[in-house]
Amino acid sequence: MQYRTFGELDWKPSALGFGAMRLPVIDDDPGKISELEATRMLHYAIDHGVNYVDNAYSYHRGHSEAFLGRALQGGYRERVKLATKLPSWLVKAPKDLNRYLNEQLERLQTETIDFYLLHSLNEEHWTKLHDLNVLDWAEKAMADGRIGYLGFSFHDQYEVFQEIVDAYDRWTFCQIQYNYMDEEHQAGTRGLKYAADKGLAVVVMEPIRGGQLARNLPRAIMELWDTAARKRTPADWALQWVWNHPEVSLVLSGMSTLEQVAQNVASASQSGPATLTADELALIARVRDKYRELCPVPCTQCKYCLPCPNGVNIPRVLEIYNGAIMYNDHNRARVFYNWLKEEERADACTQCAQCEELCPQEIGIAEWLAQIHQLLDESQNQ
Ligand SMILES: NC(=O)c1ccc[n+]([C@@H]2O[C@H](COP(=O)([O-])OP(=O)(O)OC[C@H]3O[C@@H](n4cnc5c(N)ncnc54)[C@H](OP(=O)(O)O)[C@@H]3O)[C@@H](O)[C@H]2O)c1
Repeated sequence: MQYRTFGELDWKPSALGFGAMRLPVIDDDPGKISELEATRMLHYAIDHGVNYVDNAYSYHRGHSEAFLGRALQGGYRERVKLATKLPSWLVKAPKDLNRYLNEQLERLQTETIDFYLLHSLNEEHWTKLHDLNVLDWAEKAMADGRIGYLGFSFHDQYEVFQEIVDAYDRWTFCQIQYNYMDEEHQAGTRGLKYAADKGLAVVVMEPIRGGQLARNLPRAIMELWDTAARKRTPADWALQWVWNHPEVSLVLSGMSTLEQVAQNVASASQSGPATLTADELALIARVRDKYRELCPVPCTQCKYCLPCPNGVNIPRVLEIYNGAIMYNDHNRARVFYNWLKEEERADACTQCAQCEELCPQEIGIAEWLAQIHQLLDESQNQ
């Protein structure tokens, strides 16, 4: 295992962290973790040097933390730093903060959560938690020892990321989505560098884009990978690209089989900042360009089309659809689409086409929206 640095802390994280969000399950039911197999995976990772485990209140329908509490018995808890997250969207009142944290400590069978994150911050969650004085509360929890260090995970635009980083000078770390397709998405490379410059450790999630960069690969992408002088699996290419960045503290992967754990542990042992060659980086850039060529709707996310008079979240709907086609992954796109509020979905479109007059790319948005709803709406695909 390779070890890296973690912001300003005197502690070295393993290059690979264990994400407890995609554990093997029984009967395809995310709430039924296959505990024997998941425990073997976790123990394998720790026995091979992984020293950071990431969880959240909500993973596996709320069962992941209790599973982890059991799986870390027998001396494993002492060998790792434990990270978990406050369910930002469930918190309604100040008293909820203690309630969730205390429940998490119990589920995890621990007295301290080493790294506690405000989960999935975006403008809305951040504003709400800030108004509930979450930072004062967290300082008390750090002082009484229930929390070791405070951080946040993030899903919104770069500007919101910068605002959150700047809002508090005791963040120890943040967690961002980052992979070779998402350099300019959410926090992106700008956010990675901004946070690292400010002394925050940066934990990376979705390095394989939730698996999209490793499964069901389009033939054109496979053909490009086949041209590499040094052969790697698509998952290894994706992970190595992230590890190549010196600002990255550790990379989480939510592995779903023991084989994936073994592969990613092996990848991590060969990783390091600035270890990819110029030719390898150029190949990754060609793969990125090829994926972009597969993008069906040329939306640049400029948002000139907004606000839609009917409330459709046009850029997000188009982004989800583009992901479905580029990565050949309709299932994940359906999940994201159905997470949108009803009024933000494509079927709220009345075909007024006001957005089309505003779109600099001259996209036939109204027609796309009708097609996309047909494809992604869960109720039409059951
Ligand atoms: N805070 C947040 O808002 C948030 C959001 C997302 C994730 N996270 C955390 O970050 C962790 C990492 O994110 P992620 O799970 O999306 O990471 P990821 O590594 O991008 O995706 C994991 C998926 O990639 C595939 N995979 C992993 N290793 C592979 C290999 N060697 N070969 C082939 N495929 C492989 C598997 O997909 P298949 O199962 O299809 O094979 C696996 O389920 C999560 O587990 C979670 O702990 C946090």
